[in-house]
Amino acid sequence: MEYMVKLKLLKKGAQKEIKKAKDLKELDRIFRKYLGKRGKITQILRSLKKLKKEKRVKIGKEANLLKKIIEENIREKAEKLKEKVRAEIFKKERIDVTAPGKKVLPGHLHPLTQVQRRVEEIFQSMGFSVIEGPEIETEWYNFDALNIPKEHPARDFWDTLWLKPKNQKLLLRTHTSPVQVRYMEKNPPPLRIIVPGRVFRHEATDASHEVNFYQIEGLMVDKDISIANFKAIIQKLFKRFFEKSIKIRLRPSYFPFTEPSFEVDMTCLTCGGKGCSACQRTGWMEMMGAGMVHPNVFKAVGLNPRDWQGFAFGMGLDRLAMMRYKINDIRLFYGGDLRFLKQF
Ligand code: DAH
Repeated sequence: MEYMVKLKLLKKGAQKEIKKAKDLKELDRIFRKYLGKRGKITQILRSLKKLKKEKRVKIGKEANLLKKIIEENIREKAEKLKEKVRAEIFKKERIDVTAPGKKVLPGHLHPLTQVQRRVEEIFQSMGFSVIEGPEIETEWYNFDALNIPKEHPARDFWDTLWLKPKNQKLLLRTHTSPVQVRYMEKNPPPLRIIVPGRVFRHEATDASHEVNFYQIEGLMVDKDISIANFKAIIQKLFKRFFEKSIKIRLRPSYFPFTEPSFEVDMTCLTCGGKGCSACQRTGWMEMMGAGMVHPNVFKAVGLNPRDWQGFAFGMGLDRLAMMRYKINDIRLFYGGDLRFLKQF
């Protein structure tokens, strides 16, 4: 009966271990310990052939039964362990439909967009239409049609980003002025337009210069237009945009597409005219170039300069925003820093 005792002990031992097994790896170890090639039960089954027939049948039956039981116990336990793993994964991935929703924070318009829209509103109320033009321009519209001939030194005022190949004469527009020409080609005067848009310059950046920035071009053409009209409109714009009277000054200047030409400065609002990094310590902020449309520009679009006259200007949108919000560095608009942007 020694064999029968042995089988009983094996059964007890194996079942105890199976019960305690914490994972499939441990269960596999138990399987090998009892039922593997050199497993304890396997060994007993192998040793049966040494026994006499009667004993062999009896013990063989018991041993085979034990083998089946242990196999079944292991299979059951494996199922349980797998179920446990599944439940854990499910718990982790489960969607709790009763959990409170995550709030989506609404964004808002970029300060430059806000300023652009406000300026558009003001000009529209004065009868101007808002027009757009392409950011990739031809040399003709960006320069030639604006009375800036090829070898003329004035062309160097605009640090141009040419698109390769250069002989195709395509470039990133350096100003919004080409849209004056594009518009007048298709629309006969009298006309009043503004052209907001992005422009590009190949130049070093600092507190008041960026490689890409925004301009608002203006153009008013009629039979009898003078600089007085221009001044009145700009003063009205500033008054409504800044919601107070603003001191401006006109300085004589030169642009190939206007005659006479001038630049318009306003008191730097960042420092109140004392001088700061935004206004290069002058107390004045240069806001736009302007002038009376040059006869050659009218000729380029097929209009007779004797019949028409008008003013044009090109204003820095970023600078308007800087003055409005007292920002002393243009680069902040393009840095994508939410701490900055959330203030508007
Ligand atoms: N396009 C000029 C610039 O970017 C600015 C300018 C000057 C525009 C005079 C005008 C103008 O329309 O009349 O420097």
